[in-house]
Parts: sequence; C-alpha cells; structure tokens
Amino acid sequence: MGCFIVFEGIDGCGKGTMLSLAAKWLFSMEFDNILLTREPTYSGIGKQIRSILKSDTNPIEKAKIMLSLYIEDRKEHVEKVIKPALRLNSIILCDRYKYSTMCYQHAQGIPIEKIIVAHKRMLVPDLVLVLDVDVEIAMARMSLERKKKEKFEHRDFLKEIRETYLEIPKLLPDENIKVIDANRSTDEVFDSVKREISKVLKD
Ligand code: TYD
Repeated sequence: MGCFIVFEGIDGCGKGTMLSLAAKWLFSMEFDNILLTREPTYSGIGKQIRSILKSDTNPIEKAKIMLSLYIEDRKEHVEKVIKPALRLNSIILCDRYKYSTMCYQHAQGIPIEKIIVAHKRMLVPDLVLVLDVDVEIAMARMSLERKKKEKFEHRDFLKEIRETYLEIPKLLPDENIKVIDANRSTDEVFDSVKREISKVLKD
C-alpha cells in the first residue's frame, strides 16, 4: 500500500540529515522503492516560492500570497508525485508538508485555524516526525553549514515556529505525529527516527 512519511522542524533541526539516513537505512533492508521528495518543490510554483524566499527582504508582508503559493505547490505535489508513488507502493520520505505552513505562515501572522481548514481535504501522512530542537542549537548548526540564507533564521521567529510545532499534536489529534528530541547526537536522534518508522511499516 505504500507509506507516506513526513519530516518536519525548524530550520537547522537536522531533518535533511535524518531524511537521507532513513533512506539509506531502508534501502539496506528489503525495500527497493523509496522516494525522497520535498516542499517547496523544485517545479513550477515551488521554484517561484524559492526565488521569493531568496530575494525578498521581508516575506512577512507577502504572507497571504505565500500561503496560497505553498498550498498550490502542495496540491500539485500530492497529485502528481505523492499519490502516484503511493499507488506504486513506494515509501515516501518527504521533507516538509502542511505542518510547515501551519508553523511558518502562522508565525507570519496567518491564523492557524485558517491554515488547518485550507488543508482539510488534503492527504494525511502515515507518520509525521517533528524534529524538535532548541533554537540556539538550530542556529549554531545553521551557522556551521551556512547554506541557509532564507528569512526565517531570526531567533524570535524560530522560537515561535518551534512552539507551534509542539502544539501540532494537540491541534491534529487524529494524525500520527511524533515529536522527537533532536537536541541529542545524530545516532541517538536517528535511533528514535528508526523506531517510529519501523512501527508504522509494521502496521
Ligand atoms: P527548507 O526545508 O529549508 O528548504 P531546503 O532545505 O530544501 O532548501 O524550506 C525552505 C523554507 O521554506 C524554510 O525556511 C521554511 C519555508 N516554508 C514555509 O514557510 N512554508 C511551507 O509551507 C514550507 C513547505 C516551507
């Protein structure tokens, strides 16, 4: 039947690392149909989003436009990539999904209920892993990598986003959302990731 797994968290939480470790680990087992994908995508609307994120000095002013772009990009991603892959029994590992919109666009001033309603009929993942990390640790990781140049790096912004991530399991009690302590070493965090993925693949 396939399996749709989402990785979430603030910038610098380490989800990119966990996603690729998870892909390698699954591939080393009996799975041969693994899809790595992400949002914003790198196709039409996603590309537009990424160029706005890179160029804009203040995307907050554009919150409403950004919200609709993220949702459009996601709808297309679900219909053209995720659903077809599920039909082929793929294990899908997706870097960000609707939970990013709930946390980031809420931090840009959009009411969270509005964002939840906008996603009402959208595909629900089998598992959502929220990598929860202290904002100071995330910022230190980002300055080490120095590959992030988007606008959400500011401490207070990230703090607000992290708080909303921690609220999400309560806001969406019917979804399978696991918060993982990502302040630990890569090995320890990955052990927790493996445990949660194993549970959902057994179901
Ligand atoms: P990110 O995962 O950092 O992209 P990558 O590592 O692939 O370059 O995502 C880019 C930014 O987009 C990130 O700062 C969070 C933001 N974002 C939103 O604000 N809303 C959303 O719905 C999504 C998917 C991302």
